[in-house]
Amino acid sequence: MEQREIKFNVTVFKKESELLKEDQELVAAAREAATRAYAKYSHFQVGAAILLANGKIITGNNQENSAYPSGLCAERTTAFYASATFPGVPFKKIAITAINPVHPLDYPATPCGACRQVLSEYEHKYGKPIEVILSGQKGEIWKIDSIESLLPLSFGAEALPE
Ligand code: THU
Repeated sequence: MEQREIKFNVTVFKKESELLKEDQELVAAAREAATRAYAKYSHFQVGAAILLANGKIITGNNQENSAYPSGLCAERTTAFYASATFPGVPFKKIAITAINPVHPLDYPATPCGACRQVLSEYEHKYGKPIEVILSGQKGEIWKIDSIESLLPLSFGAEALPE
């Protein structure tokens, strides 16, 4: 038997001003989108902003529903909107953030498993890594080089019959 290790790198920024200008803009767009979330039930407002290869920034947020499972996370709302609006245009980066109105989030918000799977689909589709920038309301900002890093050994279309 052998043991294999799967590792990934997180680049930690202490301050938003340490980020690339382009990344600062993306985080600002995600933060603004979070304020527009429809989070009537959880009150946890999540915002996402995707930078597309054509330079456009697409934003979205979580949309909740009285029939709880019918709502959708910010990341999927944004990814589906981006793909629906600009089919065939790769995603370069996604910034994700959240607002907890009760206890301000002092660590980076991270995407749920279903959102990682959805983002992984677009990463595979275009064959290009999607960078991920995670932030809270304050504290560190984390940058990760790909969705693959966040979802190792992911299920993909290559497993399906032609
Ligand atoms: N939520 C997101 O929008 N993204 C995630 O990755 C995790 C959770 C939303 C779903 C729900 O509206 C609220 O946060 C509480 O779970």
